[in-house]
Order: sequence, then C-alpha cells, then structure tokens
Amino acid sequence: MKIHHSILIDFMEDKDIKIIAEIGTWESNMMKRILDTYGCSITRYWATDIWGWSERYIRVSEEHWDKLYFKACQLMHQYPQLRVIRGSSLKIFKIFPKHYFDLVYLDADYHYDFIVNTIKNWLPLIKKDGFLLGKIPRSFHPEEILKAVSDCFGENVTLNRNDYTWIHRVR
Ligand SMILES: C[S@@+](CC[C@H](N)C(=O)[O-])C[C@H]1O[C@@H](n2cnc3c(N)ncnc32)[C@H](O)[C@@H]1O
Repeated sequence: MKIHHSILIDFMEDKDIKIIAEIGTWESNMMKRILDTYGCSITRYWATDIWGWSERYIRVSEEHWDKLYFKACQLMHQYPQLRVIRGSSLKIFKIFPKHYFDLVYLDADYHYDFIVNTIKNWLPLIKKDGFLLGKIPRSFHPEEILKAVSDCFGENVTLNRNDYTWIHRVR
C-alpha cells in the first residue's frame, strides 16, 4: 500500500504542474518530498495550514504548533519557490487571483461542510485543465468525504479508492 506522499508524486509525474497549494501542511513532510522531486519545474509552492487548535488535534500544544509553523518558514531558505501562510483555508483563499493554480491538494479537515466550502472557495482559483485533489484518510469514515465531493462535482470526480484520493479536473 502506497503512502499518500508517493501517490501525489506519481500523480504529478506526467503533468506540467508549476503552481501548487497544499491545504494542510502539518510537519512539512509532503511539501519537502514534492519540492525535492519536482523543485526544478515548480515555480511556486504555497504551504498553508492553521498550525493551531482544531478538533482533530486537541492534544497538540500551542508551542508545538508554533514549532511546526517555524519549521515550514525555515524551509523557505532551502526552497526559494516556497511560500508559507498560516491561516484557515476558509479565509486565505481571498489572497489569490482566479485561474492561478495548476494543482490544489486538500488534506486538512475531512468534515462535509469544510470540504464543500473549501471546494467552493478554491475551485475558481485553479486554471483550466488544472486539478483539485483531496485525500481520503484511511482512519476517517470516508462516506462524508465522498458525499461532499459528489455533491460538488456530480460525476466529474474520479475516486481512486486504492490510492485514497479524489481528483477533479477543471474544465
Ligand atoms: C493530515 S494533516 C496534513 C498532512 C500533510 N498534508 C502531509 O501530507 O504531510 C492535516 C493538517 O490540516 C490542518 N488544518 C485543519 N484545519 C485547517 C483549515 N481550516 N485550514 C488549513 N489547514 C487546516 C491541520 O492543522 C493539520 O496540520
């Protein structure tokens, strides 16, 4: 079984992805893997996260959130194309112009309302032929996620149950 970092690396292999947003960066491991693999072709990687309290992470202290945020910020020295934003995806979408991203990867909160609202806010920011891709975590009941994406996209979403992802291509 592949881990989701490899799934995204494989997905990007034959695509011309230059501008990415990761919604939910956590410890920056995905971002590092993507930038180590495709750093030559990626011109901008927006690593975003609230790096703060949420229902799923009640045991994480404020100090630890700050540590994870500073770690992401420090990586901007190593990866010049990296930009880090601390804030909820439900608010920070306002920073970006329309039709800007080639790929938005959603790996943050897996509740119905969050997914629907994030899709609604971020979809207009993706270029034609770009991708919105989301994780279906193994530890979470997938029905809620599947209902959210199907309510947003109808048939225009590919569910890859083996790879625990859903993918929408912007047309
Ligand atoms: C599963 S982790 C992300 C893992 C990361 N993508 C990786 O592959 O290493 C989920 C992250 O989403 C963040 N998160 C939760 N709600 C969020 C929101 N509303 N906006 C942005 N990030 C959020 C959490 O703080 C947490 O760091």
